[in-house]
Amino acid sequence: MPQPATPSWQLENIDFSRFDADKARADEDLLCLICASSFIESGSDLYTRNLVTHYQGDEEVQSWLREHWEPEELQHGRALATYMCHAWPGFDWDRAFADFMDEYRTVCTTEQLESRRGLEMAARCVVETGTASLYRAIHELTQEPVLKELTGNIKRDEVGHYSHFYRYFLTYEDREHNGRWRVLGALLRRLREIRNEDGDIALRHVFAWRHPEYNADPQTFRQACERIYALVRRNLPAEMAVKMLLKPLRLPPRLHHGLQTPLTRLSERLALR
Ligand SMILES: [Fe+2]
Ligand SMILES: [Fe+2]
Repeated sequence: MPQPATPSWQLENIDFSRFDADKARADEDLLCLICASSFIESGSDLYTRNLVTHYQGDEEVQSWLREHWEPEELQHGRALATYMCHAWPGFDWDRAFADFMDEYRTVCTTEQLESRRGLEMAARCVVETGTASLYRAIHELTQEPVLKELTGNIKRDEVGHYSHFYRYFLTYEDREHNGRWRVLGALLRRLREIRNEDGDIALRHVFAWRHPEYNADPQTFRQACERIYALVRRNLPAEMAVKMLLKPLRLPPRLHHGLQTPLTRLSERLALR
């Protein structure tokens, strides 16, 4: 049974006096992305409720979600929101976040989850791969010292979440015997979703309060989103992401290694487009 939360780092110990405003404000697209991430992370209590309901009767999973996963995700949200208050002092984060949540709560529902519990665990591995890769990309990209430290901490937490969800996936797989094709289906479904919905909603609400001109017509909105997604793709740790995504398929070692390199090259090539 997991023990009560003892986070590996605490926001209160981050030294914001090292914040370098010039370096932070040198990349407005990156700040839009961080602000969007701060919204999604701060909405984690909603997601936790959905998952806790989904795993009704599994006390170990439920208590890990409530006592470890949720406090860590909410700390990510608080840390990034605090960062944004330094980067954009006039930005009304609370009101922008409230607007975001009004929309997010209508799409973040239990119907979105995989009906088989083991498949949802595999799908969670996709989400944690996405966040671990995103924060590692920002960590490598930024020259701003506070953001570098924050994203280093957050990235480690996300890799830890992946390990937990993967372990629970294995336990459920022993009972449910979903098999490789169903797991692949769940991985692909979640891969499609994370790109399309949450990110676009969050960015639209960031723009509404920071760059209303981006939302003024659909083409400008799409271009602004594409610019930001391309920034992430160019810096994505492709090898790490492919390795984490392939893991729940539990392929024979020779096939796994055979696929790892071409898939990494393919994702690097796609990232350059
Ligand atoms: Fe997170
Ligand atoms: Fe996470």
